[in-house]
Amino acid sequence: APAGLADRYGRRATDMRLSLTDKCNLRCTYCMPAEGLEWLSKQAVMTAAEIVRIVDIGVGQLGVRELRLTGGEPLVRHDLVDIIAALRSNHPDLPISMTTNGVGLAKKAAALKAAGLTRINVSLDSLHEETFTQLTRRPFLDQVLAGVDAAWAAGLGPVKLNAVLMRGINDAEAPSLLDWALGRGYELRFIEQMPLDADHGWTRRNMITAAEIRQLLSADFVLSPDSRARDGAPAERFEVRRRTAGSDHGSGPVLGTVGIIASVTEPFCSDCRRTRITAEGKIMSCLFSREEFDLLGLLRTGASDEALARRWQDAMWLKPKAHGMDHVGLDAPDFVQPDRSMSAIGG
Ligand code: GTP
Ligand code: 5AD
Ligand code: SF4
Repeated sequence: APAGLADRYGRRATDMRLSLTDKCNLRCTYCMPAEGLEWLSKQAVMTAAEIVRIVDIGVGQLGVRELRLTGGEPLVRHDLVDIIAALRSNHPDLPISMTTNGVGLAKKAAALKAAGLTRINVSLDSLHEETFTQLTRRPFLDQVLAGVDAAWAAGLGPVKLNAVLMRGINDAEAPSLLDWALGRGYELRFIEQMPLDADHGWTRRNMITAAEIRQLLSADFVLSPDSRARDGAPAERFEVRRRTAGSDHGSGPVLGTVGIIASVTEPFCSDCRRTRITAEGKIMSCLFSREEFDLLGLLRTGASDEALARRWQDAMWLKPKAHGMDHVGLDAPDFVQPDRSMSAIGG
């Protein structure tokens, strides 16, 4: 019997990440260049019907159990609500989440929930207007904050927030960001910057490591391992207590959870359960896979569900064992940054 989306190393992909567009309305320095990128033509991007067909095959035949919608920025797709409604109608019990930058989210949160979206993650790197604008190159902090609260109010929680820390820019803000998130009941995750920026400006030395993140937080907080199973998730989660004077253990109640996504220094490839489809319908078995398999092109030739499923399986079989960037800048200079920036993969 076909074994779902298995690879050579004994992993099986059950989490599907689907990019709805390569376009974005921010220009985060760790992702896009200031001038933007050359967008895909409308013709090159999957239509709503094509998206639904691909998800149907993943869920119906290949063991996909969770779907995450990504971009670029998924909210810039005009038919987003219709896509979610169509997916929901075919898959009443499928968890469907979305990762967004939050711009324009306040206006759409209720409609997204009504269409059947399960939950939402929002990127939020800073609570300071100037820092936010420096990092994203757009002055939209207020909109994003309104979007986060609207998502929670619409029932799209638990809301998770993603912060990429950049040395000398927002790293000192880590404790206050966490304080803010805990106060509002959001789960903040700090992310190590990965070499996926279009400008190729990533350096090992400038990346804030997970060890540094724990150190940055330790003046104010005590973190202890969260007992819930990680289940292949990128984030390692910790329960957070406030540090009280003279105490190593912290005292008082657990205030909430924080996540650390240490892709570079503490990689989690060995338990990866992800398969990716780009906005132009290419299968990426990994964020860092060098080879892409064209699923949409095959679909457009009139291929059968079986043929499409087989191509997807073939692509995933070749999923790399690991990204190999954990020692870049130390003793393994052979890592080659992918051509695609994060925005063109989907995060
Ligand atoms: P939940 O915890 O289920 O809400 O989702 P998530 O954390 O997987 O989703 P999200 O899109 O918010 O991703 C958070 C960060 O994890 C992003 O910066 C992603 O780029 C990173 N990430 C997601 N998948 C992978 C992966 O396969 N490899 C690596 N190295 N990073 C990943
Ligand atoms: N390294 C790590 N995370 C990144 N993201 C975008 N670019 C990078 C990068 N170079 C994050 C965004 C968003 C998610 C989709 O990916 O902050 O939360
Ligand atoms: Fe847009 Fe997300 Fe890239 Fe920022 S990280 S430019 S929000 S795609």
